[in-house]
Amino acid sequence: MDFEVLTLFPEQIENTFLQGITGRAASKGIVNLKTVNIRDFCVNSYGSVDDYTYGGGAGMLMMCDPVYNAYLKAEEDLEGRKARVIYLTPQGETFSQEKARELSKEEALIMLCGHYEGIDERVLEEIVTDCISIGDYVLTGGELACLVVMDSITRLLPGALGNGESAGDESFSGKLLEYPQYTRPEIWHERKVPGVLLSGDHKKVDQYRVREARKRTRERRPDLYGEYLRDRGIY
Ligand code: 6GU
Repeated sequence: MDFEVLTLFPEQIENTFLQGITGRAASKGIVNLKTVNIRDFCVNSYGSVDDYTYGGGAGMLMMCDPVYNAYLKAEEDLEGRKARVIYLTPQGETFSQEKARELSKEEALIMLCGHYEGIDERVLEEIVTDCISIGDYVLTGGELACLVVMDSITRLLPGALGNGESAGDESFSGKLLEYPQYTRPEIWHERKVPGVLLSGDHKKVDQYRVREARKRTRERRPDLYGEYLRDRGIY
């Protein structure tokens, strides 16, 4: 997977993505991260990339040309391979595990991070294929959202997770939250690991985990629990 990120803060993207498991995936060549600094494509001698909005009102807007020229540079980097252009915006569709799975099948993605009050609508109309929000709250810019989206896609790519780690048996893959887990010591601050987990009875352990996952989902995410019951033909 090739990620081309159009941003005013390329260091924020690179410093974060190139650490931990996503960084390891990049070292292994499973993902390839490139950033394009929109500032390098400013169209006047002051280096400005934003301007006042027609119609007035507070805030500045990113101008068409710097964004468009940064996009052309990303296309050039991709050497003719077509890529969807993902615009990170609170006005987008809410990101989900399903969307992560869909995007993980692409060969390349161009990620567009906005700042200030947003981006001139005309360049968005011309280049953007998907608008994604990571939830109903407002961030100062698209970079953190971009990192969230790229992280969740990367961990789904073959070879990105190690042997112990699996992208299957976890929260949201089957509409249930994960069950609680424990490691050594057996007793910590007078709290004991549930006995069934020490029993060696794998069938009992599995039953216990499903029970706990259902209980946790019902208590914490009744919306998800409803979907889970519906999927299983209950209700
Ligand atoms: Cl994608 N961008 C910004 N600026 N704020 C957000 C967001 C994106 N998703 C949720 N809040």
